[in-house]
Amino acid sequence: MLSIAVFFRTYGCQANVADSEGLALYLNGLGCTLADSEEDADLIIVNSCAVRAKAEQKMFSYLGSLAQYKKKKPYMRIGMIGCVASYRKKEVYDRYDHVSFVYGARENMGTFQTYLADLIVRISTAKQFFAEDKKIPASLKGQDRLISAWKDRKVTLFPKRSSAAVLDVVQKPQTHLAQKAYINITTGCDNYCTYCIVPFTRGREESYPLKELVERAQTEVTRGAREIHLVGQNVNSYKDPVTGEGFAQLLEGIAQIEGQFWIRYVSPHPKDMTNDVLDMMAAHSPKICAWVHLPLQAGSTRVLDVMGRTYTKERFLEQVQEIRKRMPHVTITTDIIVGFPSETDAEYLETREVMEIVKFDHIFSFIYSPRKFTKAFSMEDSVSAEEKSARLTNLQKRQQMISLECNSKWVDKELLVLVEKPIVGGYLARTEGNIRLNISSDESDLTGTFVYPRVTSANVAHLSGVVLKKIEKNIDKSCQPFLKQV
Ligand code: 5AD
Ligand code: SF4
Repeated sequence: MLSIAVFFRTYGCQANVADSEGLALYLNGLGCTLADSEEDADLIIVNSCAVRAKAEQKMFSYLGSLAQYKKKKPYMRIGMIGCVASYRKKEVYDRYDHVSFVYGARENMGTFQTYLADLIVRISTAKQFFAEDKKIPASLKGQDRLISAWKDRKVTLFPKRSSAAVLDVVQKPQTHLAQKAYINITTGCDNYCTYCIVPFTRGREESYPLKELVERAQTEVTRGAREIHLVGQNVNSYKDPVTGEGFAQLLEGIAQIEGQFWIRYVSPHPKDMTNDVLDMMAAHSPKICAWVHLPLQAGSTRVLDVMGRTYTKERFLEQVQEIRKRMPHVTITTDIIVGFPSETDAEYLETREVMEIVKFDHIFSFIYSPRKFTKAFSMEDSVSAEEKSARLTNLQKRQQMISLECNSKWVDKELLVLVEKPIVGGYLARTEGNIRLNISSDESDLTGTFVYPRVTSANVAHLSGVVLKKIEKNIDKSCQPFLKQV
């Protein structure tokens, strides 16, 4: 059987990244390899994001552009998975002849895997015919379209693979860097924030068993992962379906794995951010990174209430204090939406006020995008497009200054970082707080190692430094987040 090369294009959040990765592992187990580009692929899988209309439009134009590749390789198959696939399946099939499958994030993974196993054999056979005769038999030309219902959803954590197979896939540069492992710890979301489509595209929240997650993390660490990213729509509402243990216990279980690696997680919900999680982070610092991505969404308690977020501005600010009390060097990042229906100028200024108080290291900021199915979709959108843009520009401008201020505080410190990959003149590394740091170095073997560079300069988006010291021992309590002021 000819080997099949699969290309993934993943839009959206880390949950999608983790899903693509799980699928890549499964396909690797079927003998597939990962392609570095669309041209090199026999199968293209587009993992879609429905959170904002703009991302969806971008994805659709990309999906349309893929028809050209299939013209050159008639045996090629193109499919779409993820959140948009959950609710626009029929439309995609109607609009795009070149798309063979549309498989939503809520559907039965077992059914999909069986379909893929069959599809791989069909692509391989057709590829062989094409290699010999430059044409393929009519029986292999079909769209192989897969139509199945939402309702038979049954979640599977991930296919079990030998560590060697994992290595093959993950070392390829395409899904992400070799040393990062994204692990979905929950799927779906029960929060129904009034602007958010995710509960509709991913379904009800379910947590995977803690024991299996720790085993998965162990496998990843054994095969060389240096970062374990725990991923979920609302990670801190995690609850082991077997024992009832919570997110803090999961963090503890993973932190107890021997080895030199970091643990990160996204995203917690402020309403579920309990002190036991923060205590656990502090107890396992720096193995559990001092980085909290705590989505604020809005600074006005009234707007938060209409958004269905169930916390107040004051509670959010208290949480930030609790975080900083335990981890003074922590990096705090956030998500902010401007122009939510009925947000007044004064309420927008409350968001700005929270930014001034917290001084987030980095923010992801968005203009509110009305999404079908959501409660906010039918709310009267009183804020004009110009006003929304003006608020976003104003907010982003101020944040740039704040980010520069935050990044500058690291200058002249020797900071613990993990080296990700070589770049021109050195390496790209990341700090515990997930800030990029460019290292000037002519050493040849730093990728995947922990080092203490001295930070020489900072700008809005990243730090620069020179390597002073490699860390030979484990990332444990004795390992300091930063050494000293030089
Ligand atoms: N419009 C704008 N931003 C949104 N987000 C989620 N839904 C919407 C929407 N309808 C943002 C939130 C969330 C992030 C992943 O995307 O800030 O935290
Ligand atoms: Fe969407 Fe809210 Fe769930 Fe996050 S917590 S995925 S914003 S509904």
